[in-house]
Amino acid sequence: MLREDLGLTGSKRGCDLGTCGCCTVLLDGVPTLSCLTLAKLAEGREITTIEGIAPPGGLHPVQKAFVEKGATQCGFCTPGFIMTAVAFLRDHPSPTREEISRAVSGNLCRCTGYVKILDAIEAASRAMAREGASSA
Ligand code: FES
Ligand code: FES
Repeated sequence: MLREDLGLTGSKRGCDLGTCGCCTVLLDGVPTLSCLTLAKLAEGREITTIEGIAPPGGLHPVQKAFVEKGATQCGFCTPGFIMTAVAFLRDHPSPTREEISRAVSGNLCRCTGYVKILDAIEAASRAMAREGASSA
């Protein structure tokens, strides 16, 4: 429904079996595999897709860090990683690398070897902490 009826093609359709994480969206703020979620179950709830995390024409700090760190290759897994990371950093603003690694363990990437993805999420957490400090 997200991709075909609403035209929100940022969320990817990978395994369709709940194993790759590339379809991850936030359902009432919680990372959720959209491939396993019936539209009926989302009725009346808030769904945030990759299209909705940044202001128009802008990038969320996590998106910016993925670009700057070169954390994307084919890009198919990227929206899922970013949605998982956005929710994780919201709840864990100063995570260790180990905690980041555990947080994204449900997202699979066949291209990058994960190192740059973890680098990007770490960099985003630092950038968000700086932004928070400067706006406080
Ligand atoms: Fe792979 Fe949903 S498409 S987990
Ligand atoms: Fe290709 Fe992750 S960048 S699957």
